[in-house]
Amino acid sequence: MTQRIVLPRLGTGTAWRDSARVCLAMNLHPNDVRWSDTAEDSSLFDAAPDAPPAVHDQAKVPKAFVSLAQSVVWHTDADRFDRLYAALYRIRSTPTLIRDRADPAIAQLRKMEKAVHRCQHKMKAFVRFREIGDPTAPRRSFAAWFEPTHNTMEPTADFFAKRFADMDWRIVTPSVSAIFEGGKLCFALDLPRPDFPEDANEKLWTTYFCNIFNPARLKVNAMTSEMPKKYWKNLPEAASIPHLIAGAPARARAMADAAPTLPPVRTARVQRAAADFDTAWKGPGDALGAALSACTRCPLHATATQAVAGCGPDTARLMIVGEQPGDQEDLTGRPFSGPAGKVLDGAFAQAGVDREGVYLTNAVKHFKHVVRGKRRIHQSPDRTEIEHCRFWLDAEIRRIQPKIIVAMGATAAMALTGDRRDILKRRGHLETGLCGRPVLITVHPSHILRTPDKAKQNELRKMLVGDLSGAHAISLTETAV
Ligand code: URA
Repeated sequence: MTQRIVLPRLGTGTAWRDSARVCLAMNLHPNDVRWSDTAEDSSLFDAAPDAPPAVHDQAKVPKAFVSLAQSVVWHTDADRFDRLYAALYRIRSTPTLIRDRADPAIAQLRKMEKAVHRCQHKMKAFVRFREIGDPTAPRRSFAAWFEPTHNTMEPTADFFAKRFADMDWRIVTPSVSAIFEGGKLCFALDLPRPDFPEDANEKLWTTYFCNIFNPARLKVNAMTSEMPKKYWKNLPEAASIPHLIAGAPARARAMADAAPTLPPVRTARVQRAAADFDTAWKGPGDALGAALSACTRCPLHATATQAVAGCGPDTARLMIVGEQPGDQEDLTGRPFSGPAGKVLDGAFAQAGVDREGVYLTNAVKHFKHVVRGKRRIHQSPDRTEIEHCRFWLDAEIRRIQPKIIVAMGATAAMALTGDRRDILKRRGHLETGLCGRPVLITVHPSHILRTPDKAKQNELRKMLVGDLSGAHAISLTETAV
């Protein structure tokens, strides 16, 4: 008699494994078992599968098969469970079969495993969250809609839970949805697609995408293979792709026609700075602090107490760059440990950014000041000092490899982009830094402190919070660009 096994749509992996063990213990031939899940076999939707008898004599299964099965169960192929059980049945007597890539059944399972892995990768890359709650709440809420090719929500949810542990979120798919609230992950079936509000970060992200699109390097096939069209409708930046592609030949021709010309003076400066980047410090990352403390690249070391290195985890995805250490930082040796640091901490809290998770540093590592009586008065570093110190900033960027860098104030903007134009006109926009990474320019916390007018101060604070929040969102995004 054929045994019918109907697996649940949640916890399918464990359910298949337990049932397969039972079938194997009962020595059921694959032809005598019919597998399905509740979505496929609606006639059995209400029928509880036979309770599996307790199994003590468990067959030894090669680890490689267990891991293969853990992926293949999430494939949408209607025969996936049957294929797995048939392979398992054979592997029980011939364990080496799992390594036989010429075996058509194993080869097919490997192909399905690959498709599931690819689908998981696409999910990690193309889920786009939108904020659905109060951005000033201590725990912010986000939602995303995603249409995966296979049933990959459940096995991929842990990735998102680790990556976005400090916020509440839900990823809704047409079948299984993951919900992460208060640090707890659960799943639900068949939720409706959420209604999303407008998202300011999305505009920022789309603008950045258009800015970094290089028409002369367009390879449509490579682009559509990495970012398949089926995902475009849920990617905010993808709305721009058709017109970017359509305009690419003309833009590329215009670029070619325009060359060669003598670079403008500013470009030449940028190129020199970029060349400096290539001669940057290449010692091991953990020797950076010691090397910096012995720095005499410019005269500032002579009057400062110490060089103040950046701080934060090596894995930080967001780097924040200020101007230079102030009076207090010069004494404590930690960036942003004085009054400007307090303003920054407040902005971090409002933007939902965890200070411990970001890498915080300065464009210039020594405190530049003049002594007046008992006071040490801050002085802004000049261009030469910024350029000398870029050596260290570049070394930090190479070490941390942040996803995005926030430049707070004109000195940081100059150090990171080589461009001294008015930062109030550039703030809130993404530029590409000399290091090739996205740089978001914003106001400096000290500028907020120095602004006497309360209303203006609040306006600047809002800008800082908005920019930090946008950069934070981008730092969390997996992108294929
Ligand atoms: N201002 C900065 O730019 N950096 C600090 O570390 C402190 C104040």
